[in-house]
Amino acid sequence: MSRITVIGGTGYAGSAIVAEAAARGHQVTAFSRSAPDAPVQGVTYVQGDAADETALSEVVAGADVVVGALAPRGPLTGSYRDVYRTIGSLAAAQKAPLFIVGGFSSLRPAAGAPRFVTDLSHAPAEYHQEMITVAALVVDDLPATPETLDWVFVSPAGQFGSHSPGERRGEYRIGDDVAVQPDGGGAISGADYALGVVDLIEKGDRHRAHVNLAY
Ligand SMILES: NC(=O)c1ccc[n+]([C@@H]2O[C@H](COP(=O)([O-])OP(=O)(O)OC[C@H]3O[C@@H](n4cnc5c(N)ncnc54)[C@H](OP(=O)(O)O)[C@@H]3O)[C@@H](O)[C@H]2O)c1
Repeated sequence: MSRITVIGGTGYAGSAIVAEAAARGHQVTAFSRSAPDAPVQGVTYVQGDAADETALSEVVAGADVVVGALAPRGPLTGSYRDVYRTIGSLAAAQKAPLFIVGGFSSLRPAAGAPRFVTDLSHAPAEYHQEMITVAALVVDDLPATPETLDWVFVSPAGQFGSHSPGERRGEYRIGDDVAVQPDGGGAISGADYALGVVDLIEKGDRHRAHVNLAY
């Protein structure tokens, strides 16, 4: 059993990770500004703003593992990368590995090929900034952190998201920074993405690594 703090634990990705981790007997704390509509039994929900370092440090304190499931939307649009810098520092001080819910566009179609984010002409313009911001974490920010931060950036399939929650199949494939399903991006349900993330947490065999999950 691990003590797992999920920052953004009431959102689409975060709530699936919270549910999966709690179902496996982990002690889970979910942090977000609002209380959830459907709380998971046994989970501790803490309300606060990720822009508030004191609030963040309180939920990271005592955690064995930290999961970041924030999205660069609304008030976090401009501060998302700074907030993750703070979360990374707090996790490193706590010696807790940090697992981040990433995006598909930071992946590559083939080994050594440019990442999808270098040509977003396939994606609706309204999502471009979000894709660029999330990708910047794994392209620039995380590799530049001190080695004391153990991070894993987990990109989902292209068709992952609240618009297509899908169902639990109990399966997924895992890749590194080359998309498991490059053509069309593939899919993965919220539940199976969470299954993969909690498997990664429990195995603990990836370090300062970019991985991706898809069917
Ligand atoms: N196919 C893809 O590549 C794909 C698709 C979807 C998502 N994603 C990525 O997955 C990640 C998560 O996305 P999502 O769709 O799960 O997001 P979401 O549903 O919007 O969830 C965001 C979570 O963060 C919390 N939050 C937002 N601002 C906060 C703040 N200032 N302080 C504390 N908590 C805050 C939200 O709760 P409150 O609002 O109550 O605070 C919520 O729990 C993002 O990085 C996104 O880019 C990738």
